[in-house]
Amino acid sequence: MAMNVSSACFSALSYNKPNRIRAVASEESAGAVTLKTDKEDKVKLGGSELKVTRLGIGAWSWGDNSYWNNFQWDEQKLKAAKAAFNASMDRGVTFFDTAEVYGSPLALGAITSETLLGRFIKERERKNPGEEVAVATKFAALPWRLGRQSVLSALKDSLNRLGLSSVDLYQLHWPGIWGNEGYIDGLSDAVEQGLVKAVGVSNYNEGRLRDAYERLKKRGIPLASNQVNYSLIYRAPEQNGVKAACDELGITLIAYSPIAQGALTGKYTPEKPPSGPRGRIYTPEFLTKLQPLLNRIKEIGGNYGKTQTQVVLNWLIAQENVVPIPGAKNAEQAEEFAGALGWRLSNEELEELRSLASEISPVIGFPVENL
Ligand SMILES: NC(=O)c1ccc[n+]([C@@H]2O[C@H](COP(=O)([O-])OP(=O)(O)OC[C@H]3O[C@@H](n4cnc5c(N)ncnc54)[C@H](OP(=O)(O)O)[C@@H]3O)[C@@H](O)[C@H]2O)c1
Repeated sequence: MAMNVSSACFSALSYNKPNRIRAVASEESAGAVTLKTDKEDKVKLGGSELKVTRLGIGAWSWGDNSYWNNFQWDEQKLKAAKAAFNASMDRGVTFFDTAEVYGSPLALGAITSETLLGRFIKERERKNPGEEVAVATKFAALPWRLGRQSVLSALKDSLNRLGLSSVDLYQLHWPGIWGNEGYIDGLSDAVEQGLVKAVGVSNYNEGRLRDAYERLKKRGIPLASNQVNYSLIYRAPEQNGVKAACDELGITLIAYSPIAQGALTGKYTPEKPPSGPRGRIYTPEFLTKLQPLLNRIKEIGGNYGKTQTQVVLNWLIAQENVVPIPGAKNAEQAEEFAGALGWRLSNEELEELRSLASEISPVIGFPVENL
């Protein structure tokens, strides 16, 4: 169900003219820019010219029936995902993260996340022409994919599914077992060919991050971001040098699983753990240990009229140079995320929460972080 690439504009735009490249739902809309969010509410991604909202929305669960959605994707979930997209746009949160491997291309009735996001953008564009949206997607560094050409060809497939002529941010989803230098060169080629506005990596450790930064720099291209697992209860980036290296080099840290896949929202309890694969990570034992922290988060949130979800997202944003991308399955979740913006926890509260969280052993992360 891939949408057609709108009268393709794969023209070679130089990196010095990044403002001319943007994710557009159609060629006709390319000139119009209406910001729902005040520009001050946006941040530049690393040293790139790309500005995104301080919080984005993760679209991993859209179309997925292998990890999320109790192994089932149906019309109701589709409507809810579309409502999440629109609720987010309505509240000025206009940055969306997807990947070529999100959603389920093979199973009956399933669909890829990129295809859905592209459709939502197109439908929205018809009703609200000129609205700005920033799209991030990712290249899967599968072992048989070698060299820069594989990056360009996967990107063109992603654009095809999205129905866009370019994306704002293209990321390497994880480091490859081999072929990494070629992948980085592929990112540079994509920028030079006007297919992407900014480039990033994901699940890169400190050493790989520095290497990628240097290799892109030789081509005059900034590494905009590193997308890693980061939340109040998963602070590995603070301990393994990734956060410090991002801050030093001017690379934005995009925080994935920022609400610990729902565990930090207070919705799940030892008596009512999440179902499906998440239940094996966030077990009743783990959720029992989490309760004192969750209780304190609730108390603090109460003083601001904020929910637990909003407090933990605010905690991440307050770490500076961090853009969290929580996953929203429906409008209510997306609306709640928007309430994490426009206020700030005190320094004492930030430290108190870190200290309480440090008493909880983190869950095991995505092993590719250690490649
Ligand atoms: N680069 C990578 O390797 C990588 C890895 C993982 C994720 N990501 C990206 O990061 C995004 C977010 O990460 P994530 O989806 O793993 O985890 P997350 O954002 O921490 O959690 C998302 C889940 O929490 C629950 N939830 C959301 N809002 C809620 C609310 N207001 N109240 C209660 N529960 C709520 C929802 O599931 P239920 O309603 O079913 O509880 C939702 O699917 C992904 O969509 C993806 O774009 C990237």
